[in-house]
Amino acid sequence: MSAPAAVNPILWNGEFLRLLDQRLLPAQLQYLDCRSAGDVAHAIHEMAVRGAPAIGIAAAYGLVMALREAPDALDRASQVLADSRPTAVNLRWALERMRGHYLQHRDLAALEREAIAIHDEDLAQNHRIGELGAALLPAGAQVLTHCNTGALATGGHGTALGVIRSAWSAGQLKRVYNTETRPWLQGARLTAFELQQEGIPAALIADGAAAHLMSREKIDWVIVGADRIAANGDTANKIGTYALAVAARYHGVKFMVAAPSGTFDLRCESGAEIPIEERAASELTEFRGQAIAPAGYAAFNPVFDVTPASLIDAIVCERGVIENPTRERVLALLG
Ligand code: MRU
Repeated sequence: MSAPAAVNPILWNGEFLRLLDQRLLPAQLQYLDCRSAGDVAHAIHEMAVRGAPAIGIAAAYGLVMALREAPDALDRASQVLADSRPTAVNLRWALERMRGHYLQHRDLAALEREAIAIHDEDLAQNHRIGELGAALLPAGAQVLTHCNTGALATGGHGTALGVIRSAWSAGQLKRVYNTETRPWLQGARLTAFELQQEGIPAALIADGAAAHLMSREKIDWVIVGADRIAANGDTANKIGTYALAVAARYHGVKFMVAAPSGTFDLRCESGAEIPIEERAASELTEFRGQAIAPAGYAAFNPVFDVTPASLIDAIVCERGVIENPTRERVLALLG
């Protein structure tokens, strides 16, 4: 099984990894070749590949390359890859699965097959998430999504965008609104690119326009992905997700989180334990190298936030749907 070539962000050719450089989209479709775990960690940190499942898949291939180069590189390479970004648990999940496999079998050919399995399973899981999530939407649904959770962020189809794709195929969807998602513009650049490729009726909104939209238009669901879901259902996702959930509850709009089981971290009791990545101030004070704030001005740039479980109506994963998530309900499905 493989994702459609046009938006396949991760190509493994059996020797090295080719990553679609997402910093250049939608203007250029250019691949970046990664020939070592260090190259992959750099590509993850610099956002050439991004999205929780996609960085887990890339890291799995990174570990294959590291162990081919040096059979004693397991700990070192795992650490370099794990340190590339802190919030998405899919990265650590994929590395732990690969590590366990290698320690058990010590077989590099089998380890490569394990990385390919992680990649293929993600695509299959997303199709299941898509079906389960679409089943929650009414006919003629209007939805709002945030960041990019599509084929570019995953092994294919997408999580939240997978629900949107599946709903569109089933003839259930009227229109999608998507946020631009400052400061990296994953919504404006990447989600808009994917929605346009699919021919799905969609419109871009400024991040700050979401509450206004909900007050003027009938929005049925906000649908987002996740970078880490704690045992009690608290969910870390792209900065701005929490504000969308607050606005959704105020306006009576339902709120859905779509994510594979590898995004759950049952070691985190609540969202308070999820590490939140902070990136450089320049991502806010500059735009493409041009200053947009006074020189020397400080900035606070957390790139994820935590939405409390109490604001989430449904978490959809390939194993099933958790409505009004609580610790008991999360553990019943994932424990
Ligand atoms: O900083 P990014 O672009 O990696 O953030 C991505 C998100 O927050 C996504 O919503 C999340 O990873 C889920 S992708 C299926």
